[in-house]
Amino acid sequence: SDPLRLGIAGLGTVGVGVLKILRDQAELIEARAGRPLVATAVCARSRDKDRGVDISDLAWEDDPVALAQREDVDVFVELMGGSDGPAKAATEAAIAAGKDVVTANKAMLAVNGQALAEAAETAGHVIRFEAAVAGGIPVVKALTEGLSANRMERVMGVMNGTCNYILTRMQSAGLPYEAVFEEADRLGYLEADPELDVGGIDAGHKLSLLSSIAFGTKVDFEAVELEGIGEVTIEDIQQAADMGYRIKLLGVAQMTGRGLEQRMQPCLVPATSPLGQLEGGMNMVVLEGDAVGQIVMRGAGAGEGPTASAVMADVIDIARGIRVSTFGQPAAGLRAARPASSAVP
Ligand code: NAP
Ligand code: HSE
Repeated sequence: SDPLRLGIAGLGTVGVGVLKILRDQAELIEARAGRPLVATAVCARSRDKDRGVDISDLAWEDDPVALAQREDVDVFVELMGGSDGPAKAATEAAIAAGKDVVTANKAMLAVNGQALAEAAETAGHVIRFEAAVAGGIPVVKALTEGLSANRMERVMGVMNGTCNYILTRMQSAGLPYEAVFEEADRLGYLEADPELDVGGIDAGHKLSLLSSIAFGTKVDFEAVELEGIGEVTIEDIQQAADMGYRIKLLGVAQMTGRGLEQRMQPCLVPATSPLGQLEGGMNMVVLEGDAVGQIVMRGAGAGEGPTASAVMADVIDIARGIRVSTFGQPAAGLRAARPASSAVP
């Protein structure tokens, strides 16, 4: 049958990972998707950079919008990043040109995802974003498919590997925040704007997406109560350890009488609990549904392979004709996260 043709915008960590999976697993993917998946065209800032994968057979575009509009592209795969700018413009162009979209861009979705999802839905297309929340952990699929018979009671988790690295390293090495922050910087763990990590913003973006899916509400990042890890001292960490606790940047979302409550802040968790034992750059998501009870998912929230794994799962679903909509339910049917009365101070 006809191949599904991908246009990939962004050939950094994740884009290269996607090209490698397409190259190395072509047979397995074709068998599972029921048709071949091929990259036809790509786009990045620099054409000449050695990326460790051969792109000489692929068409090149300098402009992501032009890539999104190409006739030989069925699915636009957005892997550039940024909440606005080229990522948003190209995603809008892809939807207008009648393409499905797969993205790992939590910043874009947390800020602009609702409007993009509604535009895609109106046009009869989907935006899929498994990779945007907790990287390689298939939590979006777990919520939209595996737990679709449940009324979700709570979702929580550690969703920023960099913060988890900093906090666990402070604890294990007895080093102050500033020293571990510099170490994380040297190791290349921090986002270009580190405040996205340590300010809790990146994790807050992810929580806002997850809670929208879990509770069937419109994405409401602005309502996330955010506190980063910059104020956590080595004394806080040691005192917590003395009492049998660890400090984690924990996101919690639950529905209350006042609407959806979303918090992302440093929290004490028992040292012996799964969350307390989460080491290094790992992520953990805990899902609680009325029928299923508690489910704990642990895995890599970042990196070439894990993130590309999640991107490709979305692409394979599209190739299979699975068109589960973006934010858990049809986007236009989503409820506001806050009752109108909660807008009154
Ligand atoms: P990255 O390594 O910084 O790569 C970004 C790519 O986008 C580069 O290839 C860059 O081109 C290209 N690009 C940037 N601006 C562009 C523009 N205006 N026009 C064309 N190309 C442009 O980023 P990444 O780590 O792969 O992340 C990609 C997305 O995945 C982001 O939304 C990120 O938040 C998300 N994500 C990443 C991870 C992870 O582990 N890295 C995990 C989960 C989600 P050049 O290479 O030529 O500079
Ligand atoms: N900066 C993010 C993290 C990358 O540390 O988890 C993956 O989203």
